[in-house]
Amino acid sequence: MAERSSFVVVANRLPVDEVINDDGERQWRPSPGGLVTALHPVLAEHQGTWIGWAGGDGEAPEPFELEGIRIHAVPLSNDELERYYEGQSNATIWPLYHDAVETPVYKRRWRETYRLVNQRFAEAAAEVAEEGATVWVQDYQLQLVPAMLRELRPDLRIGFFLHIPFPPIELFMQMPFRAEVLRGLLGADLVGFQQRLAAQNFVRLARHLLGLRYEGQSIQVDGRKVKAGAFPISIDTKDMERLAADPKVQARAKEIRAELGDPETIILGVDRLDYTKGIELRLKAFRELLADGKLKVGDAVMVQVATPSRERVEHYQTLRVRVEREVGRINGEFGRVGVPAVHYLHQSMPKAELAALYAAADIMMVTPLRDGMNLVAKEYVASRADRGGALVLSEFAGAATEMRQAFLCNPHDPDGVKDALLRAVGAEPADLKRRMRTMLRHLRSHDVAAWAKSFLDELSDAADLSTPDQP
Ligand code: ADP
Ligand code: G6P
Repeated sequence: MAERSSFVVVANRLPVDEVINDDGERQWRPSPGGLVTALHPVLAEHQGTWIGWAGGDGEAPEPFELEGIRIHAVPLSNDELERYYEGQSNATIWPLYHDAVETPVYKRRWRETYRLVNQRFAEAAAEVAEEGATVWVQDYQLQLVPAMLRELRPDLRIGFFLHIPFPPIELFMQMPFRAEVLRGLLGADLVGFQQRLAAQNFVRLARHLLGLRYEGQSIQVDGRKVKAGAFPISIDTKDMERLAADPKVQARAKEIRAELGDPETIILGVDRLDYTKGIELRLKAFRELLADGKLKVGDAVMVQVATPSRERVEHYQTLRVRVEREVGRINGEFGRVGVPAVHYLHQSMPKAELAALYAAADIMMVTPLRDGMNLVAKEYVASRADRGGALVLSEFAGAATEMRQAFLCNPHDPDGVKDALLRAVGAEPADLKRRMRTMLRHLRSHDVAAWAKSFLDELSDAADLSTPDQP
């Protein structure tokens, strides 16, 4: 029987990576990420447990402790990976919630497996949570967990946070098991979103689909109150600033500039290779500016880092072909021997290398068609100790609500993107510094620890209010 905790995080992925040591033994090391950094103090203080999938389709390891966090792995078979993770999560829900920028695929057997796997996560949480514990469920892969968990353990305080956008009613209504998903989320005491508008969509949807009454952001469900709210996620700002200011990272940034031929303007993109990120439209904008003679190869160079992602899902396979064809086309038309126009890296890299790229880039292009937040935009700002650089940011990224000093653009309008890029290229250094300073100030007071605290404080209030017969 697993040890019990008063604080439990449930997420599709565990914050650990598998490493095989020299003796061929399976070992685990922490995989650093914003979420685990933010939750680490709370987890460590409460001997908390993190429940998630360890990656792969092999046997899950037995529960173990890593840096003060109890790790409880949930196994997934190869079939489950295909149907729950690649299918229902990433070929149905992901595109649907991102404005259906790719057509969502609906399959009955994916839904059945999604239900089954969500039940497995809920049972794991029910097993490890102490009486009256707080359980925080994360993201779109686990939307049924709150209701399943409440059914098993009505004593728990349950929070849910959606890291991706929540669609408008008309789009949500496409989903074949829409009422079940909504009821799943309503099992929580507090449902958090990145944006105020998303929280409003949710509350209005509860009335539209289930006829539930609400007052402000509070929905009445079976004699309970479920609160909805906006909690824009952030980064570990101090840590990112520290890393970027490291002399080794700064030296590497200089080296990168030299390796790129010391151009006047380095334009950078860093994204998972995902069709929501607007990588193609960014490349196209760059190509048209080269063709118009507004930018010149040699003076300007583009670096696109595209992290491999969800590679067995068809939408992602076709995207890769399209992006790589566009890179080839640009380099074929505009490159010279030894001077490519676009440097394309389809790989993950250490955080220090990313920080060096951020520090080296004059312009960061973040142009998603839709994005819940986009942490890359925030990381770039935190990396500019010199207050130099410019951020070109899509209005359709959650980050645009907070980062108003970026060069904002509509990614659906190619001329608007080109114009924002050119304005960034031509901006005065004093103007850029002023913009960066304001955005950085915001990020310092709104970091990921502040995000976690505001959610957990609100959850604790919401849970106290949710049962009317409580004193
Ligand atoms: P998403 O969550 O959709 O992938 P975000 O921009 O919010 O998009 O977060 C991406 C995270 O992944 C950032 O913290 C970023 O630093 C990291 N990342 C992106 N590309 C790479 C890469 N090639 N190697 C390592 N980390 C990466
Ligand atoms: C987004 C989602 C996360 C997900 C991450 C990486 O940020 O909101 O839930 O973990 O992408 O995607 P992956 O499918 O590799 O977990």
